Amino acid sequence: MELNIAVLPGDGIGPEVTNEAIKVLDIISKKFNHKVNLSEGLVGAIAIDKTGNPYPNETHKICEKSDAVLFGAIGDPKYDNDPTAKVRPEQGLLQMRKKLGLYANLRPTIVFESLIDNSPLKKDRIVDTDLIFVRELTGGIYFGERGRKDHGNSAYDTCEYNRNEVERIAQLGFEMALKRKGKLCCVDKANVLETSRLWRETVQNMESSYSNVEVTYEFVDAVAMRLIQWPSEYDVLVTSNLFGDILTDEASVISGSMGLMPSASIGSNNALYEPIHGSYPEAAGKNIANPLGSILSLAMMFEHSFSLEEESKIIKKAVDNSLKEKITTKDISGNNKPHTTTDVGNFISDYINS
Ligand code: IPM
Ligand code: MN
Repeated sequence: MELNIAVLPGDGIGPEVTNEAIKVLDIISKKFNHKVNLSEGLVGAIAIDKTGNPYPNETHKICEKSDAVLFGAIGDPKYDNDPTAKVRPEQGLLQMRKKLGLYANLRPTIVFESLIDNSPLKKDRIVDTDLIFVRELTGGIYFGERGRKDHGNSAYDTCEYNRNEVERIAQLGFEMALKRKGKLCCVDKANVLETSRLWRETVQNMESSYSNVEVTYEFVDAVAMRLIQWPSEYDVLVTSNLFGDILTDEASVISGSMGLMPSASIGSNNALYEPIHGSYPEAAGKNIANPLGSILSLAMMFEHSFSLEEESKIIKKAVDNSLKEKITTKDISGNNKPHTTTDVGNFISDYINS
């Protein structure tokens, strides 16, 4: 099969972890006789430095032409404490999502047996946790009308959703639930917000088409609580852009290994894969960042963009093996013989090759 992949390493540790994922991509593609065409593009702070634009048109064209995008990370501390900055790296990410129509963000929380003691939660609470968020990604308060009034003394951000935007998220959620544990939770704030009432109504109307899925409706504040009390109770959770942003960060620490968590942003014509950790500037260039989030994002790419499940499974197995053999970076091993970013990538590549 021919795989056309755009590679956007981005900022901070993005380039280092993406390199290791590309290494794994090369090895697995040789093994299965796939032809890989890579095209690299600029995004984020590095794109601002070089072109003045966090998501240059040239990068957009590269992404549009590809079947899938492998993305590293975005962000630079020099923008964080400057609320007056007109151009910010994060705008690149938002533009990319909007322009490529990546409306659904899939963020799994998987607990790895060998890392269970790394979790801040008690072991009995997290065993068997295997949940996935489907976060709406191109609408809601992130993209609503915003501004200032009263000579700058009041500000507003508006949240708007239409039925179609909710339906396509819910449909993805229902379909995923059918292939998993058969449970779907609609996370909203329908006791207060009108947009949430539309979400709830829309999901309710779809229930009869998916009679094998058990649907629950929970308020976002309650989910924030139950997620750390009983994470293993959940299967698929669908929610709006902002709620999903917040809850997926919370969910990412459950497994005790945020550096491992992958994500996929799905659109009708394209999809983007990225580790959920950020640009982690303190670690940039030191060869200490954990490449597993990026490598597992590659596994998601094989599964979702190319329907190559065998390849995806082998990558995940190789990652599991590296954890069992304790070939891990400092975020997991602590000071107990930490391995470098490249060590981990090499170990996984060798395992796949053997
Ligand atoms: C994420 C990030 C982004 C978001 C930021 C960087 C704009 O936090 O991918 O979750 O809020 O969506
Ligand atoms: Mn976030």
